[in-house]
Amino acid sequence: MNINIPEKYKITKPIKHDTFLINGKINSWKGEFTNVITTILSNENKDHFVIGTTPKMDEKHALKALDAANNAFSNGTGKWPTMKVYERIKCMEAFVQMMILKRNEVVKLLMWEIGKNLKDSEKEFDRTVDYIKDTIDEYKTIDRKGANFQNSSGVRAIIRRGPLGVVLCLGPYNYPLNETFALLIPAIIMGNTAIFKPAKHGVLLIAPLLEAFEKSFPPGVVNIVFGRGREIASPIMKTGKINVLALIGHSSSAISLQDLHPQKNRLRLVLGLEAKNPAIILEDADIDLTVDECISGTLSYNGQRCTALKILYVHDKVKDEFLDKFSKKIDKLKLGLPWENTLLTPLPEPLKPNYISDLIEDAKNLGAEVINNKGGEKHKNFVFPAILYPVNDKMRVYKEEQFGPVIPVISFSDVSKPIDFMAESNYGQQVSIFGKDVSVLGPIIDSLVNLVCRVNLNSACQRGPDIYPFTGRKDSAVSTLSVHDALRSFSIRTFVASKDNNLNKNILREMIDSKKSSFVRTDYYL
Ligand code: G3H
Repeated sequence: MNINIPEKYKITKPIKHDTFLINGKINSWKGEFTNVITTILSNENKDHFVIGTTPKMDEKHALKALDAANNAFSNGTGKWPTMKVYERIKCMEAFVQMMILKRNEVVKLLMWEIGKNLKDSEKEFDRTVDYIKDTIDEYKTIDRKGANFQNSSGVRAIIRRGPLGVVLCLGPYNYPLNETFALLIPAIIMGNTAIFKPAKHGVLLIAPLLEAFEKSFPPGVVNIVFGRGREIASPIMKTGKINVLALIGHSSSAISLQDLHPQKNRLRLVLGLEAKNPAIILEDADIDLTVDECISGTLSYNGQRCTALKILYVHDKVKDEFLDKFSKKIDKLKLGLPWENTLLTPLPEPLKPNYISDLIEDAKNLGAEVINNKGGEKHKNFVFPAILYPVNDKMRVYKEEQFGPVIPVISFSDVSKPIDFMAESNYGQQVSIFGKDVSVLGPIIDSLVNLVCRVNLNSACQRGPDIYPFTGRKDSAVSTLSVHDALRSFSIRTFVASKDNNLNKNILREMIDSKKSSFVRTDYYL
């Protein structure tokens, strides 16, 4: 099994991960376990291998984690939500220092568990560390802005952002570290407490970080449990004790979980969901640049990104040139194992190759052709990207979020065709537009910005840089995530107001001087 694997990336025996974190203590799990599989190696008899096990926790432990988070928050009166900002920041700084020490372990597991190539696995780790550091800096800025009094119509006020309560945090398999932490970190730094359950793939890589969480935060602030959504997340939601559902994943999961909550107005949603981002290639587009951007847009991490380009609209006049160059360049791409740093790697979901083949067959039956020579070739869990043309609205690949290496292409003579597709779509995350003529681009951009939340000019769609807002319309997102916006999404404005008279002035003065309150203060953390 381990032939040709560089020594430092080998897993010599299955990793038995048997711990979880509840109420500030790492405990050992004595119950059932779930196998963690990898699809990156396969042989004639097997398309996946077991590389480890993780706890298959149950409802009882899910509710224990909820109790711990609830007690730590104590309706806003707990130690963590009432702590001084700089104390919370110190905990987060301690955490990030410990996390950095686990880089190699986490990167190696990212490659084995989700098949992400080495460069992108390292990027995922480093980007997450940067995200935490930037979040700390941004929180200081927000805190600084709140460190003053306003006085209007005889009412003096000090206005800050306060936590919302207990957060249930669920991330996706394609960014099991980065996207989960992009929810968890802003949630806790704002004073909320959390229960976090890793996604269906990318679970073992969380294990090396349990100790850093245990040592950095007070009991109950972060609780990490392992298991299936329906045994962990569903019972927690049913209690009605969750204040924020923070989920990056599919809209159907978000809806079923919301439906379980008995007090829906209490529940805030922070959701990053699926998308069907189109590329619109106009007749004056720079074709070489467009081909390169469309390759990275459709195929980075084999198209398994919510921001991936999932349908290409190309103008009739440049269709032939584009398709010719695009398919030749795609056919030259290499398939490889993650440490070989190829763009194309095995798909981590065992059933995904068949799903991709089904989409291809369906499109072929309805009149499309695979126009690149290698398109659709399968070798166990590798699938070579297939360019499908001409695609129409009867085909599954026109509507479904393929989340894999298949690229539907449609030609147009009037730009209203892709715009109508976007207007009718249930999704509204991003679009890429390729062209040069400002008099054409200007009015199109003015429509596109109201259909999605990011228009990428001559560039592929992407989430980063993380200081920019990441959100979407319709079924693509609820709330906005960026370093700054995430801190807002996980908090609410709350303030202390007083009639402007001598009694109140004296009380406030004394409160500030004596530093008796964490909230009513005008100093800030540099
Ligand atoms: O899966 C969706 C991710 O947020 C995409 O992020 O554009 O940085 O790959 P990315």
